Amino acid sequence: MCSSDLLKLLKENKTQYLSGEYLSTVFGVSRTAVWKVIKQLQEEGYIIQSKTKLGYKLVESPDNLYSYEIQEGLRTKRIGKNIYYFEEIDSTNDYGKIVAQKPFEDGDIIIAESQKKGRGRFSREWVSPMRKGAYLSILLKPQISFEKITRLTIITALAVCSALEDYIQKKVEIKWPNDILINQKKICGILTEISGEVDKINYVVIGIGININLDIEDFDESLAAKASSLKIETGKIQKRKEVVQKILNIFDQYYDDFLNDENYESIIDEYRKKSYLIGKNVEVKIYNNDSIRARVLDIEKNGALKVELENGEIRDLLSGEVTLSTSF
Ligand code: BTN
Repeated sequence: MCSSDLLKLLKENKTQYLSGEYLSTVFGVSRTAVWKVIKQLQEEGYIIQSKTKLGYKLVESPDNLYSYEIQEGLRTKRIGKNIYYFEEIDSTNDYGKIVAQKPFEDGDIIIAESQKKGRGRFSREWVSPMRKGAYLSILLKPQISFEKITRLTIITALAVCSALEDYIQKKVEIKWPNDILINQKKICGILTEISGEVDKINYVVIGIGININLDIEDFDESLAAKASSLKIETGKIQKRKEVVQKILNIFDQYYDDFLNDENYESIIDEYRKKSYLIGKNVEVKIYNNDSIRARVLDIEKNGALKVELENGEIRDLLSGEVTLSTSF
């Protein structure tokens, strides 16, 4: 008997006590073995009432991101069939790369309650305090051409944006390519890493960091003006498990469309509608550390940012870091 089996049974019988004898018969173990697992679950934060002669009843579950907790709310075709859970890890993206060295299933997840070396784009640190955010990586092995990879970034940003909007009932926007903002502050970041050869993708790791119940003190001074959390924006603690489940359920549908080459027009249209940058004047840092000033015109079908430079030239930018600028 493993703790998740017992937990499942307790969850299915939330209104009644299940006796130790009944549980020991169902699982074919001794009553002491049942008691030990109950104690372990209580130590993990499950509130389980135990009454002599009656048995055990589950009263409350902690908001932990255990794989079996996440999986019970998934209605996915591919995503989350295997979930690797860690209380603490260096970086879920780094662990994803280790998992990818052996056979894995498309959509495997690595999730952690905290990260010691959470990474963002441009080698920045991703603040990952214990049980306050959700830090996860989705491991994929799509059989597609390299030029379609940017679509994965698009669908991930859109899945997170739609899930959060639905969950907290507030406007959520995408800052190209894949920062998620509420009230112009960053709530979530996405880091996509790819391994492949010229004509073949080995794997893709999509890392998603969501500031769910972080407090303003969790961000250092330089971040506090630009970053926020669902808790700060809504004024109440949010259920991390539910946020993750919602994101994975929506992502699964978009990923299915992506693999079948379906609905991309409507996905990119939706992305445009949620785009924070269209129509704004911006400064874009491109990879050689140059900066260009421009006005954002559109998001192209291939995911590029279409901008008009100060001299009237129109350019498609495939990557870069964008900040708003007051002048053009
Ligand atoms: C960014 O906006 O710069 C991207 C941030 C990505 C953070 C996530 S948290 C889970 C995964 N593991 C990491 O080390 N990074 C990503």
